[in-house]
Amino acid sequence: MSDAQAESFHPAGFEQQVRPRVEWIDEWLLRLMPETHPLLEEFGEACRYALSGGGKRLRPLLVLCTCEAAGGELETALPLACAWEYIHTYSLVHDDLPAMDDDELRRGRPTVHVAYDEPTAILVGDALLTRAFGILAEYAPSAELARDLTLRLAEAAGARGMVGGQAADLKYAGKSVNAEVLEFIHHHKTGALLHSAVRGGARIAGASGEVYAALDKYGYHLGLAFQVIDDILDVTASTSDLGKSAGKDLDQGKMTYPIVHGLDGSRDIAKRLVTTAIDALAPLKQGETLTALAHYVQHRLR
Ligand code: IPE
Ligand code: IPE
Ligand code: MG
Ligand code: MG
Ligand code: MG
Repeated sequence: MSDAQAESFHPAGFEQQVRPRVEWIDEWLLRLMPETHPLLEEFGEACRYALSGGGKRLRPLLVLCTCEAAGGELETALPLACAWEYIHTYSLVHDDLPAMDDDELRRGRPTVHVAYDEPTAILVGDALLTRAFGILAEYAPSAELARDLTLRLAEAAGARGMVGGQAADLKYAGKSVNAEVLEFIHHHKTGALLHSAVRGGARIAGASGEVYAALDKYGYHLGLAFQVIDDILDVTASTSDLGKSAGKDLDQGKMTYPIVHGLDGSRDIAKRLVTTAIDALAPLKQGETLTALAHYVQHRLR
């Protein structure tokens, strides 16, 4: 894709292109949620409420599209890909809690603690987090792959990944940070899980050597770009387009790319990260979908 084509990239077109995959993911997300005991009917409903409701499903899409680009089987990757969305959904349910970002709107609907209550939202998060690892153990086609994916997802989601990033995000709210600390926060709270989705997809396909290294580089840069754009959209997009409250970061004194680098500076950084991600795909024979996905990350409206 030339620069001119990239500038005219239409996010709705990409969403249309991947819709069958998103529908497939949506169906499996609910299928993978175990039936709860009849005494816990409302809790089971709250778990399903969190899992449904129209997320972009970018992490499982990344697992699938990376697996495909590396020559793997989509049928094998699909249930495993859902483990990433379980972790992501749990992280959103907890991120929205009053003790964290205190948000009442998510994916165009009341957040879980508003639709149900706070203890339920905490426990829904716990249930989704634990189930993610259950899914890997149950659906990985070999014990070796189950172990590999479990270690990667645990690292990306835990204290050295997303949870650590969330802790840093809260720690530095209301303070000022330099560019290096900001990158640390954003890479950890968001980039790490997206990066590990790409690594996971590559591993499921059995990628190694040059192809794995290329995908690894793509995943790192795409993951960071994703959160830079999330910060930009918080300033520039409307609540109705986002399906979550716009303007929250400033209200809460969050350290964001627009605060540290300005809006234009942040756009330049996102563009550079996406370009580096796309350039990294050069050794792949089938990099088109991942290239389009990277353009989508840069130009998305929600
Ligand atoms: C929002 O993620 C939270 C971040 C990590 C920035 P998404 O923008 O992927 O949210 P959904 O899943 O599409 O709702
Ligand atoms: C969220 O970052 C990162 C997570 C791990 C959920 P944000 O707090 O910026 O995400 P939004 O804007 O609420 O979706
Ligand atoms: Mg947050
Ligand atoms: Mg938030
Ligand atoms: Mg945000």
